[in-house]
Amino acid sequence: YQYQEMLTNKYGEDSKLIYDLKDQGGEMLSLRYDLTVPFARYMAMANIQTIKRYHIAKVYRRDNPAMTRGRYREFYQCDFDIAGHYDPMIPDAECLRIVAEILSELKLGDFTIKVNDRRILDGIFAVCGCPGEKFRQACSAVDKLDKLTWSDVKAEMLEKGLTEESSDQIGNYVQMAGGLDLVEKLLSDEILNGNKSALAGLTDMRLLLQYLELFQITDRVQFDLSLARGLDYYTGPIFEAILLGNNDDKKERVKGETVGVGSIAGGGRYDGLVGSFHPKGKSVPCVGVSIGVERIFSIIEANIKKEKGKTRTNDTQVYVASPQKGFVEEKMKIITELWNSNIKAEMSYKKNPKMLNQMQHCEENGIPLAVIVASGELQAGTIKIRSVGSREERTVDRNKMVDELKQMIGTTACNC
Ligand SMILES: *[C@@H]1O[C@H](CO)[C@@H](O)[C@H](O)[C@H]1NC(C)=O
Ligand SMILES: *[C@@H]1O[C@H](CO)[C@@H](O)[C@H](O)[C@H]1NC(C)=O
Repeated sequence: YQYQEMLTNKYGEDSKLIYDLKDQGGEMLSLRYDLTVPFARYMAMANIQTIKRYHIAKVYRRDNPAMTRGRYREFYQCDFDIAGHYDPMIPDAECLRIVAEILSELKLGDFTIKVNDRRILDGIFAVCGCPGEKFRQACSAVDKLDKLTWSDVKAEMLEKGLTEESSDQIGNYVQMAGGLDLVEKLLSDEILNGNKSALAGLTDMRLLLQYLELFQITDRVQFDLSLARGLDYYTGPIFEAILLGNNDDKKERVKGETVGVGSIAGGGRYDGLVGSFHPKGKSVPCVGVSIGVERIFSIIEANIKKEKGKTRTNDTQVYVASPQKGFVEEKMKIITELWNSNIKAEMSYKKNPKMLNQMQHCEENGIPLAVIVASGELQAGTIKIRSVGSREERTVDRNKMVDELKQMIGTTACNC
């Protein structure tokens, strides 16, 4: 549990999704909303100056669950953060490289990592005449550009008290996306580069994109001015990874390009958060990413289903079976030998199971190998090894069983 006040003023509009536990034994508590704020508090309390770490744990959102899309009220996030006073954009570039590596490795399909910078956005809002106290609201409206059309977003801005003129000016900027060329173009935009904050953001964005080129991930990255990320604590670069795919249940964007399956990772720089928890206000700059574990699982499962495959939820390598009655003790001896040799093995929990049921179990659970013992083998001092997939059987010496199995498990043909 987190003290409720620690979570206030950190998440902007999303604060409505925080689980409050009202007055538990006199304390105002909330369930943690993400791993970033608790991490920052830990850094401050333990007075840590530099750290690089990952953390996989549960977080809670009082949101509408959508099981099939991997959206739950209690779910896992995997966070990776780099904290410390370093030169600009080097840790940021590494975070993006890590996200790109993870998403490529998981083979989820085509993806894009959108990047932007809070300082650029704030600069845009400022030069477009949006008053400072409305920045965060404008920000969360712009953030919806991936789901809503520009005219819906503009309507929200007007509702939040922005003028028609300043909304239109903001709209011209935030619908742009590109690469280094766009950064250069904006750097020479005299209205925008006259704002210190925007200039600092654009200068860092140029550096970041140059580093990402060296890290060989520019083909995965897009500088997208509509990316805003709702959370309040970001102070510099922000990122969001989107899976691309032909998804029907999402409105087409005005721009008509990237229709995503949704966001599966996000993050950014939060230089002020540790300081806000530190007793003396000492700050530690941080940058990090969060990866949504369930979302990724639901995508992987859907992909496997599409290929008519099965998701294995256990990794048993060998099943110990017998076609005859009265072999439970013999099977126990064999399975003990396998367990002692670090082979993942299972046998029926019934004393005298039917052979057909034992083989069915192997097939249903994707267990690749079976060891079969019967009276003939027992007398001859041998054992049968069956490849469940091909149904091929081999008879081997009982005392060579473990070696044989280990060899078979080691080959790629065996899906062990
Ligand atoms: C530049 O933008 C910042 C917001 O990031 C704002 O506070 C500041 O007033 C702006 N300066 C000018 C000269 O517009
Ligand atoms: C093993 O995984 C399969 C799916 O591949 C599942 O149906 C089965 O229930 C699992 N068995 C156990 C014992 O967990």
